[in-house]
Amino acid sequence: MAIQRPKGTQDHLPDGSPKLSTDIRASAFRHVTETAQRVLERAGAQFISTPLFEEADLVKRGVGGSTDIVRKEMFTVYYFGDHGGFILRPEGTAGIVRAYLQNGLKQLPAPLKLWTHGPMFRAENVQKGRLRQFHQVDYEVLGSADALVDAEAVALMVDVVRELGLKNVRVKLGSIGDPDDRETYNTYLRDLFSPHLERLSDDSKDRLTRNPMRILDSKSAEDQHLLTELKVRPMLDFLGPEAAAHFGQLQGYLKDWNIEFDVDPSIVRGLDYYRRTAWELHHEGVGAKSALGGGGRYDGLSEQLGGPVVPGIGWAFGIERLLLALEAEGVSLPAPRGPLLYLAALDEENVPYAATLARKAQAFIRAEFAYRAMKPGSAFKDAERRGAVWAGLIGSEEAANGTLSLKNMQSGEQKVVRVEELRELQ
Ligand code: HAM
Repeated sequence: MAIQRPKGTQDHLPDGSPKLSTDIRASAFRHVTETAQRVLERAGAQFISTPLFEEADLVKRGVGGSTDIVRKEMFTVYYFGDHGGFILRPEGTAGIVRAYLQNGLKQLPAPLKLWTHGPMFRAENVQKGRLRQFHQVDYEVLGSADALVDAEAVALMVDVVRELGLKNVRVKLGSIGDPDDRETYNTYLRDLFSPHLERLSDDSKDRLTRNPMRILDSKSAEDQHLLTELKVRPMLDFLGPEAAAHFGQLQGYLKDWNIEFDVDPSIVRGLDYYRRTAWELHHEGVGAKSALGGGGRYDGLSEQLGGPVVPGIGWAFGIERLLLALEAEGVSLPAPRGPLLYLAALDEENVPYAATLARKAQAFIRAEFAYRAMKPGSAFKDAERRGAVWAGLIGSEEAANGTLSLKNMQSGEQKVVRVEELRELQ
């Protein structure tokens, strides 16, 4: 068998490809990124793009040493003579904050809204909606700790799913407090779990020392069982007055704007950089355990990376998961677009002339041409297969008169037009 693509990756294929059930229609993918771009740029976000690989240290310090991403899922990049100190980015935030610091973006008016989309890499167990190379749309706001910025970030995420036409999306909103609140909570969790150490999965035994809160996020069934049995109190119960006030303000703004959400005390998120606001968007088409997207505030991240104090907040959607949700809701995506004109010559000597005409037309309409002479029947069949709106024929008479014979492939209408009239073709 010919070489196959690596497990957990997908090809993005042209419209009409026979194996689209296991892969992605590139035009549907682009519809998602273009919709996000429209929504986010209307709100003032600017596009940023950062490298696909970064210093391993950036991800370790940013995403956090106790996360599954850093402990189990990093793809290390090796090349000749190198020490393997780079990794393929598992997410976009750490790289964007690095770029912000390295390029002096602090001098731009704050808060600075940025957005990007692109591939991310995590060596995960592959299943529906869980890939090793997946793609995110990512939005980040740097330079403000105001709850109004949090509210706008959540609202924009909802705007993107609305503009895509999704209906059954739930916003699960929480807060994971300030570092001191989390310390108190971690102490509570250590005291709670320590007497039951033997029942925890090996990973969670390790989490108990490194970062007990990660146990709440565990994928192991035994851990989840123990969590229910112990009736673990949520992080929300441990918010200090400042974090609680911030969370209250955020909810007030969202209510003002009619953005529906459920306060979900169990939100923990899988990355260490979060502070205060944290949320996820869920959709039943993606599966109960998997989020369509998630985000949160990360006010300490810049300092963690060696920079000054720069509060930040952001979110990311998984594009493949958005496509699953769109499919589950049966939302129709823009139909594949064939050429407006498919031009064919009826005899060999007019092929170059037809090609030249089509080439000129490409300056203003979607136009293709046949590379060899065709009989009218084959030209129409070919035009139809390519999804053309009009088939155009050029024989010696048309070539001599500066005209072409057109047939509308949908209505069957036929007409003869002058070549100059091609500009008006619709
Ligand atoms: P995250 O929750 O790790 O957050 O990922 C965001 C989204 O990416 C998930 O909700 C999911 O849709 C998608 N995703 C994650 N892993 C996979 C996978 N293995 N296969 C398919 N889709 C996946 C972040 O990455 C943060 N950087 C979000 C953020 C931005 N927070 C602040 N700013």
